[in-house]
Amino acid sequence: MTAQDCNGCHTPFTPTGEPDMTRALSGHPQAVRVAGAPRLPLADGWIVAINETNTAWAGPWGVSFTSNITPDRVTGIGAWTDRIFIASIRTGKKSGVGRGLLPPMPWRMYATLTDEDLRAIYAYLMTIPAISNRVPDPIPPSGAK
Ligand code: HEC
Repeated sequence: MTAQDCNGCHTPFTPTGEPDMTRALSGHPQAVRVAGAPRLPLADGWIVAINETNTAWAGPWGVSFTSNITPDRVTGIGAWTDRIFIASIRTGKKSGVGRGLLPPMPWRMYATLTDEDLRAIYAYLMTIPAISNRVPDPIPPSGAK
C-alpha cells in the first residue's frame, strides 16, 4: 500500500505536513470547511492549490476532496465489493458507475494494475480501522454549474 502511496492524498496531513495515521485513509476531514477555491491562476502560471490538510485540491476542475477509503460502511467504502472497487479504479468513476473522478486521483495509473493487485489493495483496505468521516461533494469551477 505504501508503494502506491494512497496515504499521500487520502490521509489528512498534520500541521507539520506528515500524514496523520490516526486518521489513515479517511479522506478530507468533514470538520475542515472549504468554501471555495482561491483565486487561480496565481502568479507565474501556478494553477493548482492544496489546503493545509492536503486533502482539498483546487484547480481548473474546481475543488476536489480526497475520499474516505476506510471500511466505514456509511461514509467509506465498507459497503463496496471488490468488483465495485476494481470498477472504480479501472473506469475512474465514482463507486464504479457514477460521475468521473476528478484530479488528482491517479486512477489511470492504478488502472494498469492487475485484477490480482487491485483485489489485494481492496483486501488491505478492508483490514484498516473504519473511520466515520463524511467527505464533502466537489465544488464546481467558479462560473460553472
Ligand atoms: C494524488 C492524490 C491521490 C492519490 C495518490 C490517490 N488518490 Fe484516490 N482519490 C483522490 C481524490 C482527490 C479523490 C476524489 C476524486 C473525486 O471526488 O472526484 C480520490 C478518489 C478515490 C476513490 C473513489 C471513491 C469513491 O467514492 O468513488 C477511490 C476508490 C480511491 N481514490 C482509491 C485510491 C487508492 C486505493 C489509492 C492508492 C492506490 C489512491 N486512491 C491514491 C486522490 C488520490
